[in-house]
Amino acid sequence: MASSSPSDGGSKLPLKSIPGTYGLRFFGAISDRHDYFYRQGRDKFFSSRIQKYNSTVFRTNMPPGPFISSDSRVIAVLDAISFQILFDNPKVEKRNVLDGTFMPSTAFTGGYRVCAFLDTSEPSHALFKSFYLHFLASQHHNFIPLFRDCLSELFAGLDDKFSDKGKVSFNTFSDKMSFDFVFRLLCGPNSDPKNTELGSNGYKLFEIWLAVQLAPLGSLGLPKIFNYVEDFLLRTLPLPAWMVKSDYKKLYHAFSKAASATLDEAERFGLKRDEACHNLVFMAGFNAYGGFKSQFPILMKWVGSAGAGLHKDLADEIRAIVKAEGGITFASLEKMTLTKSVVYEALRIEPTVPYQYAKAREDLVIQSHDASYEIKKGEMIFGFQPFATKDPFVFENPELFVGHRFVGEGDKLLKYVYWSNGRETEEPSKDNKQCPAKNLVVLLCRIMLVEFFLRYDTCTVDVGKSSSNLGASVTFTSLTKSSSH
Ligand code: HEM
Repeated sequence: MASSSPSDGGSKLPLKSIPGTYGLRFFGAISDRHDYFYRQGRDKFFSSRIQKYNSTVFRTNMPPGPFISSDSRVIAVLDAISFQILFDNPKVEKRNVLDGTFMPSTAFTGGYRVCAFLDTSEPSHALFKSFYLHFLASQHHNFIPLFRDCLSELFAGLDDKFSDKGKVSFNTFSDKMSFDFVFRLLCGPNSDPKNTELGSNGYKLFEIWLAVQLAPLGSLGLPKIFNYVEDFLLRTLPLPAWMVKSDYKKLYHAFSKAASATLDEAERFGLKRDEACHNLVFMAGFNAYGGFKSQFPILMKWVGSAGAGLHKDLADEIRAIVKAEGGITFASLEKMTLTKSVVYEALRIEPTVPYQYAKAREDLVIQSHDASYEIKKGEMIFGFQPFATKDPFVFENPELFVGHRFVGEGDKLLKYVYWSNGRETEEPSKDNKQCPAKNLVVLLCRIMLVEFFLRYDTCTVDVGKSSSNLGASVTFTSLTKSSSH
């Protein structure tokens, strides 16, 4: 640890009033959002305010602001300690805050508020979350063979394209593979989305449906001259759900037919079939596909850029253990200490879902490293996770990708890895809002690296911003095949 964090042990720290201002009700919100999207950009928006207020806890407005959010005022928590208040479910409410200070219309989800928008105090949250945890546990035996099957198609596609063009986009193949995996996980390993009305377009339908819901938080990266027009068009009124109604209908029908066994099980669990299916589509498209679409390119971006030295160490570890253990199994993956650490490091340095929100259920006192702050009941708390997981008081060289960071004693730092909306050392349950697929995501990232380094010795990558603003765009500019594969 770079230095000890005084507030970790709950010691008494001076009580300070929270710095920062919201400005005038309407104009303050507009001004902050222009800083955020156009004048400063996301990271500078936060870092300049940390400097200005000399505090990692401060008041600000968060986009989208008027007229889409009725109240854009938040208390930002941007260090590893104060961020943890967002996981304290008895103290904070997470009702309708998945996307921040606004909630897309329930017309995007069949008229239902789906699980991710429910607070832990709502009985249906516990019911849906328990069902998801039960479902994922029941599919445990499928995870490795199913994902490896999906990956063999991905790597065959990458190889073909690479030998043709001398470079290849990872995202194109990763998006399709992610959708196939999610579909087959929920609908049965032998199902194939191509044999449904979705054909080979399922993931594109999800992307359009996601983009319309999340438009108020996006930016097209157009030249400066268009900034005000874009801001007005995306953030004045929400885009209506009817724009994607027919796409959503197709997705709903495909899942309601193909996932019938999963929906039978949901009914046995006490869920209404129709509501369960809308929940399943949201989980498949928003939580799972949306998550993987960003996660795998982020992983390959950091690992690909880390250089031949780390690639050799990973290949040596992976090949030796797979050989000794006779294959890729839960037990063999567990033994790969460097591979595990590299995955955690990618999850730390660039958490896929960077924003978390919650409202104080009661008057609270929170702590940063050096001070305590009072928060009033009903105030919105907002965490920008990359600042918390790159907190220099917790992580040495926080901006550097250090592959072996979590090896050996380094695993003590795992409690500061928050990508799943909870500590990496804790588990999702019906009583919290941690991602129910936390362990699945970590497992798949490990398998991705294992399959990669069984096939290739090393690679080089070009990294850009992804067209969807989610994750990264990764192009392999060299792929050196393993001589032993
Ligand atoms: C890399 C992929 C994934 C990432 C990065 C991710 C991340 C997250 C995060 C950060 C949350 C909390 C959101 C919030 O309340 O602020 C969450 C919740 C959730 N995730 Fe994941 N997730 C991923 C994959 C999946 C998969 C594969 C599934 C299901 C198969 C899933 C199902 C859910 C559900 C149902 C919730 C809501 C939990 C609740 O309301 O208690 N996620 N996920």
